[in-house]
Amino acid sequence: MSTTHHPQPLTAFARDVLQGLSGTPRKLSSRYFYDEQGDKLFQQIMRMPEYYLTDCELEIFERRKEDILRAIGLEQFQLLELGAGDGMKTKVLLRHFLESGADFRYQPIDISPNVLMELEESLRAELPALQVKSLPGDYFKVLHELRGGGGQPKVVLFLGANIGNYTREEAVSFLRSVAAELNPGDRLLIGFDLKKDPAVVLDAYNDPAGVTAAFNLNLLRRLNRELGANFELQGFKHWETYNPLSGEAKSYLVSRKDQHVFIKALNRSFHFEAWEAIDVELSKKYSISELESLAEQSGFAVQEHFFDRKGYFVDSLWRR
Ligand code: AVI
Repeated sequence: MSTTHHPQPLTAFARDVLQGLSGTPRKLSSRYFYDEQGDKLFQQIMRMPEYYLTDCELEIFERRKEDILRAIGLEQFQLLELGAGDGMKTKVLLRHFLESGADFRYQPIDISPNVLMELEESLRAELPALQVKSLPGDYFKVLHELRGGGGQPKVVLFLGANIGNYTREEAVSFLRSVAAELNPGDRLLIGFDLKKDPAVVLDAYNDPAGVTAAFNLNLLRRLNRELGANFELQGFKHWETYNPLSGEAKSYLVSRKDQHVFIKALNRSFHFEAWEAIDVELSKKYSISELESLAEQSGFAVQEHFFDRKGYFVDSLWRR
């Protein structure tokens, strides 16, 4: 009797890698940076002096928390956060909202149940009076499930300039999908990194200690571990560019030599010519007029902008 070998269906990760490495230019999505090691490296990035984004947003929340709550202006609300992470900055708002007697429940949404468990645990310890209900899953699925039901108005947080990891077109489509799950009068508080001295932007993604390089190269380590690839990490170099016209900071992994890499899960080998680049991340910086037109195009009205002192970052409150 002969046995036939049925290949396993590819996971979404493997499919994306196959598509991205087969195309021109080659691309790997920064969505896949965040495995356990990637999460740790990102925490380290957020503590680096060059990575101003985290400090700026923290400063906005510390200085403007009263104004933010006043601008939200709702008696009762559900506070949803898309991609909550460790909640370090959000806790500043949560603590203030609680102390002001606001009537709200915090519902962080994240694809990773682990992230949510850790967040809930730290919230229980630090803010025991807070009502928390974490919602694991895909943002839109969860928002869709919360739709209707005559619930309280929603305030959605999308912080940390996460929107910058989308192209302008992807951002419109993402925000339209959020808008579609909200009711008129619901709010979105969204963080944007703003256009500024190009040297400042470049330094944030090109730190001398090499943390950002390690963060980006960790993607190849993940491919090695999860897809059985044989990338040599020393064979690739982190390279950053910033285009002040488009506001696009871009990260590449550049092949230092002519080389072949085999990926077992794809049963395929990929040839990299010397100095061929893989596009791994976009971190788009916005001007105020650009982000205002983004709001309008996606079905939101801008209510108020909250800036840090240097004017590097804005958390913008939008109304559906
Ligand atoms: C998560 N995201 C907003 C970060 C950024 O600034 O694009 C990810 C990051 N990449 C390199 N440094 C930080």
